[in-house]
Amino acid sequence: MLPSAVAGSLAESQPGRNVKAPHYLTAHYWWAYVHPRAVWFFERQWLVNLILWGNYTRLRNAAMTELGDELPGTTLQVACVYGDLTGRLTQRVAAGGGRLDIVDVLPMQLENLRNKLPPGAPARLLAMDSADLRLPDASYDRALLFFLLHEQPAAHRERTLSEVFRVVRPGGEIVIVDYALPRWWHPLRYLWRPLLATLEPFALDLWRDEIVRWLPAAAQTGWRKQSFFGGLYQKVVIRR
Ligand SMILES: C[S@@+](CC[C@H](N)C(=O)[O-])C[C@H]1O[C@@H](n2cnc3c(N)ncnc32)[C@H](O)[C@@H]1O
Repeated sequence: MLPSAVAGSLAESQPGRNVKAPHYLTAHYWWAYVHPRAVWFFERQWLVNLILWGNYTRLRNAAMTELGDELPGTTLQVACVYGDLTGRLTQRVAAGGGRLDIVDVLPMQLENLRNKLPPGAPARLLAMDSADLRLPDASYDRALLFFLLHEQPAAHRERTLSEVFRVVRPGGEIVIVDYALPRWWHPLRYLWRPLLATLEPFALDLWRDEIVRWLPAAAQTGWRKQSFFGGLYQKVVIRR
């Protein structure tokens, strides 16, 4: 049962709801999200920017520009993000008189986000696995996934995309920002590959295939892609 939004104090979480963290998160991403000191270490704008080779602002803005300056209705952000993305998104949601729901499977990450959002931000924080969204069909106008899919094994990624597709209304928009295959001349194509293969074992899937490979329905509804930073990053927009 989902919590209802509380007027005037919408930055709420779901007390007592515990969702099992998927194996890939505890096995491969414990250092980034699960370890008790992970938030303390990574929640620094300059550090997340460094990890993205100085592209955090550009990619964050690309995602937000795609969503719009003012966001009425319902917006879904699938998974928390270190840095100021969600805070800025809530400003646009507030400007449009809308509501933002953020789902994440780790209570610690939701707690961190709650501390980052100003009181009264029009946001609900929901403990859920992206592959099993306890949300009604067609209940969102748009959804954002920022660097989530590369972390997931293919089967989980496929379920996540199918769930997001289910909960966004027909005609709505799904915005995805994530890794992609850099161009042949990009030095990081050769330097980044072994690091990604070691630290983020499923990320290279996104170097090999288009994201819509894991969402065949997008072929019917339409999608487009824009590359950034010599192809190392991509924004994919799927029309629901
Ligand atoms: C969006 S991703 C990566 C973001 C990016 N590395 C950053 O922080 O700048 C990180 C978040 O995804 C969440 N996450 C990973 N798998 C998830 C899943 N299956 N369902 C919901 N949240 C998930 C993690 O708990 C973490 O908070």
